[in-house]
Amino acid sequence: MGHSSAVWDHRAAIELIKDWNGIDQVVLRNPQGASARVSLHGGRVISWRNDLGEELLFSSSKAIFKSPKAMRGGISICFPQFGNCSSIEQQGFARNKIWMIEDDAPPLLKNDIRGKSFIDLLLKPGEEEPKCWPHGFELRLRVSLASDGNLALISRVRNINGKPFSFLFGYHTYLSLSDISEVRLEGLETLDYLDNLCQRERFTEQGDALTFESEVDRVYLCSPNCIAVLDHERKRTYVIRKEGLPDVVVWNPWEKKSKAMTDFGDEEYKQMLCVDGAAVEKLITLKPGEEWTGRLELAAVPSSFCSDYFDPQLK
Ligand code: BG6
Repeated sequence: MGHSSAVWDHRAAIELIKDWNGIDQVVLRNPQGASARVSLHGGRVISWRNDLGEELLFSSSKAIFKSPKAMRGGISICFPQFGNCSSIEQQGFARNKIWMIEDDAPPLLKNDIRGKSFIDLLLKPGEEEPKCWPHGFELRLRVSLASDGNLALISRVRNINGKPFSFLFGYHTYLSLSDISEVRLEGLETLDYLDNLCQRERFTEQGDALTFESEVDRVYLCSPNCIAVLDHERKRTYVIRKEGLPDVVVWNPWEKKSKAMTDFGDEEYKQMLCVDGAAVEKLITLKPGEEWTGRLELAAVPSSFCSDYFDPQLK
């Protein structure tokens, strides 16, 4: 028997399990059979499956599941930095910490509960907090799975310090693809980008959708809030919507870099693309008591339905 959204109890649709390191994972399910799995190690979404049980996020077969190292794949929460340009660890420390489940998270401005199974997680500075980033913060993450199988991540950063602080943020998202050479990324045409492979030099993208033939590591600036990744072979389109996140980071290590990474298979670059909703070009600054929110919503739809779904009005 199906559940109507009015009576759908999100608590009945979540399960707590332990991974092989004894760290809690939360499994979210919707009535149609889609699921998402979130690890308290990093607040990382490590799996997102559609109602056919197909995995939609890439995880490396060589991924290392050992705290405190972040595992390669899924969606990691990059905070308070993105990239590797300060004394804080690459992509920030949040993804290497153990988060906690928050039973009574403060309400969100938008109603994000109805018809969804969700979990609220919280990260606060611990006693052995990094000296390189000595700020009082609360980082909240709601991961929700909707009845249509869409996955949403809502992050809130609150300044509970007496002084302002600044940070960068990103949802480092490994999409699972059939073959990178069959993939198009739409929505970033004509934008300016910083090329991490050329000392962050600024270029302007051509008028065509992006296709991939070599290593890419770029920060697209002032991007639209809806972009799409089309996987022609699988006839699947990922629609990525974001709010509060002006940039999109696009990364594929390609052949040479793949071989140099110990936690990544030599050929795995063909089956993935990172497309990250992020705020990386400009620091976000919060005064004492202020809160920032950044949202990401992912849909995986058959490409034939996509022209209706990918509505340019929403950009
Ligand atoms: C990209 C960055 O987003 O992620 C790259 O722009 C980085 O510079 C890559 O190498 C991989 O990051 P990670 O943390 O998954 O190894």
